[in-house]
Amino acid sequence: MSVTYNEKARQFRLRANKTDYVIAVAPGGDYLAHVRFGSAVPDRDLTYLLRLDENPFTPETNDRDRAVYLDTLPFEYPCFGIGDYRESAFKISAPDGTSACDLRYKSHKIYKGKPALEGLPATFATEKSPCDTLEITLEDKPAGLEATLIYTAFEKLDVITRSVIVKNVGDKPCTLTRVYSACVDFDTADFDMLTLNGSWARERAAERCRLHHGKQSIDSIRGESSHQNNPFAALCEHKADEDSGEVFGFNFVYSGNFIAQAEVTQHKKTRFVMGINDTDFSWLLEPGESFTAPEVVMVHSTEGLGGMSRTFHDLYRENLIRGEYKDKRRPILINNWEATYFDFNTEKLISIAKEASKLGIEMLVMDDGWFGHRDSDNSSLGDWFVYEKKLPGGLKHLVDEVNKLGMKFGIWFEPEMISPDSELFRAHPDWAIQVKGRPMTLCREQYVLDYSRKEVRDHIYSMMRKILDGANIEYIKWDMNRQLTEVGSAALPPERQKELWHRYVLGVYELMERLTSDYPHILLENCSGGGARFDPGMLYYSPQIWCSDDTDAIERLKIQYGTSMCYPCSAMGAHVSDCPNHTVGRSTPFATRGHAAMVGTFGYELDVTRIPQEDRDAIPGQIAEFNKYNALVRTGDHYRIGNMFEDNTFDAWEFVAKDKSEALFEFVQVLGRPNERSRRIRLKGLDPEAYYFREDKPEEKLSGAALMNCGINIGGLWGDFRSLIIHFIRAEHTD
Ligand code: DGJ
Repeated sequence: MSVTYNEKARQFRLRANKTDYVIAVAPGGDYLAHVRFGSAVPDRDLTYLLRLDENPFTPETNDRDRAVYLDTLPFEYPCFGIGDYRESAFKISAPDGTSACDLRYKSHKIYKGKPALEGLPATFATEKSPCDTLEITLEDKPAGLEATLIYTAFEKLDVITRSVIVKNVGDKPCTLTRVYSACVDFDTADFDMLTLNGSWARERAAERCRLHHGKQSIDSIRGESSHQNNPFAALCEHKADEDSGEVFGFNFVYSGNFIAQAEVTQHKKTRFVMGINDTDFSWLLEPGESFTAPEVVMVHSTEGLGGMSRTFHDLYRENLIRGEYKDKRRPILINNWEATYFDFNTEKLISIAKEASKLGIEMLVMDDGWFGHRDSDNSSLGDWFVYEKKLPGGLKHLVDEVNKLGMKFGIWFEPEMISPDSELFRAHPDWAIQVKGRPMTLCREQYVLDYSRKEVRDHIYSMMRKILDGANIEYIKWDMNRQLTEVGSAALPPERQKELWHRYVLGVYELMERLTSDYPHILLENCSGGGARFDPGMLYYSPQIWCSDDTDAIERLKIQYGTSMCYPCSAMGAHVSDCPNHTVGRSTPFATRGHAAMVGTFGYELDVTRIPQEDRDAIPGQIAEFNKYNALVRTGDHYRIGNMFEDNTFDAWEFVAKDKSEALFEFVQVLGRPNERSRRIRLKGLDPEAYYFREDKPEEKLSGAALMNCGINIGGLWGDFRSLIIHFIRAEHTD
C-alpha cells in the first residue's frame, strides 16, 4: 500500500515512488495540517516539522494565541475567516450572509485504486501504473458541511493527485464561494515559479521568476484554460535547472477558469493554491447535494525540470489519455485550413486528396466551412448540415471518393458555438449565453451556446450524429474559437447564475464523453483557436490537441518546448505548412518544417497541388522518417537540450527509448552565425556503460558516458533555420 496511517502520531503518509506526501491531524484542535512534500524518508513520525514548539499551540484552551496558531500552522485545506490570513482554499456564504468556516478532521479511509470524479476528467489507475487513495473527511458542524479531500499516490511515479468533494449534510442551503482543489504549505520561500504564458499563436512560453513577498498568480477568467496562461505552475528551488534540483509541478485537470497562486508569507514560507477561479463563481448546495472540485496533479522531481516533465508525460500517456489511439501511431493527415481557408469545394478537396494519397498521406481533414452557408467566419455555426453549394452530392460522396483513394476522412466541428446568422439562432436566440437586456459581445462574429442546458447539448449532438452516421468519418477536430462574455443563462435562477462558468465546462465534458463512447473508433483532436485549451482535462477526451495556429517551424520550437513542460509530445498536434508562413511570413527549409512537426502528431497543412515540386518530392521521405521514429517519439523519454528562451541561435532535443537501446537527437540551427558553426552538444539520458553508434556513421562508436559527458560535434550547417537528426543505436559489442 502506498498510503499508511500512523495512528499514534495521527499521521498519513502517501508514498509515490521516491516521493512522500505527509499529512497530520494536528494536536490542539483536529486541524488537518500539512507536514511535508518531498523526497521519501523512512521516519514514521514527523510531527516536529509542524514546529508546534515555535507556535503557541493550544488554540482550544488558550484563546489569546489561537489566531497566531491558525495563521502559522501549515494547513492542508485552509478555510476563510477563522484566523488564517494567508490565502484560503475554501470559502462559503452561509444563509445568514457570513463567510467564516472551519473544517476539522472527522474520519478517513484508505483503499486501493482511484475513484472517478463524477462528470469530470481525472487520472486513473492501470495495471501497469497502479495507485492507492486516501480520503480524509473534514466537517464544519455549524455550516452543516463536509469536505472530503481525496489524495492518490501513484506507485511507480512521483505523482500525488488531489481533489475535493463538498457535501451539504445539514438542513439549510449553503453557498460555496471558493472551492480550490489543492493547497500546499511549503516551509521555504526560496523558489522560482515557472509558468506557461502567451497569446494566440504564441502559446505556452516558459517564464521563470523568483518568488517574492505577497501573491504571484496566473489565471483564466475567460471560460477556457486560455492562450494567455496555461493551468500549470512549477515551484523550483533556485539552483534547479533542466537536469538537476528539486522541482514541484502542478497541473489542473480542468478546461475552464482557474487560478494557480504562490504566496510568500510573513515567515518566509510559501503557500501554493490551485483550483477553479473564484471570480464570479458560486455554487448553491441544497441539503444532500454535493460539489466536486476538479483534480490537481502534483509532481515532485529531484532531476530538475526535465525529470518533472518526463513524469508528467509518463502519467498522462498511461493514466490520463484513453481510447483506441492511446498507444497508437496517428494517421498522417492533410488538413485543408491553410490550403484553402473557406474557399473549397468537393473538387478541390479531391484534388488535394489525390495528390496527397500518391505521396503517402493517409487522411484528409476537411476544416471549417462545409456546413450551413458558411463562406467566411460570419455565419452558420450551429447549422451542422452540409453546404450543398460547396459539397454537391453531399458528404458521403466526398468521403467515398476520398476512401477510394485509400485515405481516411476527418471533419471539423465547433459544437459549442452559434452564429447570429444561423437557423439555430433564429429558432433559439435564448440558447446563446447572454445577460438579458444587455448587448451581446461578438467575438469572431459568434456567440457561445449555453452548454449548461441539456436540451442544447442534445440538439447539437443529434445534428453531429447525423453527419457522423451519414459517411465514413474517422477523425474529428473539435474547435472552440472564442472566450465567454456576459455570462448568463436563461435556464438558471438568479442564485445559480454564477454556476454557469463551471456548468458550461461540465456540459462540454459531458458531450465529449458521449461522443467518444458512441464513436470509439473516431480519433478526436481538440483545438481552441490553436492551443487555448491545451490542458489535461481535454487530454482525457482526446489523445491529441492542436498546439497552436502558428505553424512556423521556428515559432513552434518555442511553443513545443513550453508545451513539453507537462504535456507529452505524443499529444501535440503539429503540421508541416507552406512558406512564407501564414502567421509570421518566415520561410524555412521544408526539411526543418518536417523535423519540427515530427516532435508531435505530424501531418500537413498546405495545398499539396501547389507547393514547389521539390517540396512535394520530399514528402515520401519525410513520411518514411516520421514512421521510422514515431514509436520512439510517442513512447520514449523526452530530453530538452536547447532552450530558445535563453539562446535563440539553436534548439536541440532528444527522445531516448525506455530501455535506452536507441535515441533520436534533433538539432535546429536557428541563426547561422560567424565562427559559431561548430558546436559541441552533450546528449542526455543514455546508458553510460553502453556503447552507441550513429546510424549514418556506423563506424563511429562511442560510450553513453562519452556522448553525455563530452558530447557530439555539430557542424556543417550553413544558413538560418537548418536542421539535422541523428539516430543513435546501442551497439551489441564494444569493439
Ligand atoms: C482555429 C483553428 O485553430 C484552425 O486550425 C482552424 O480550424 C480555424 N479555427 C477554423 O476556423
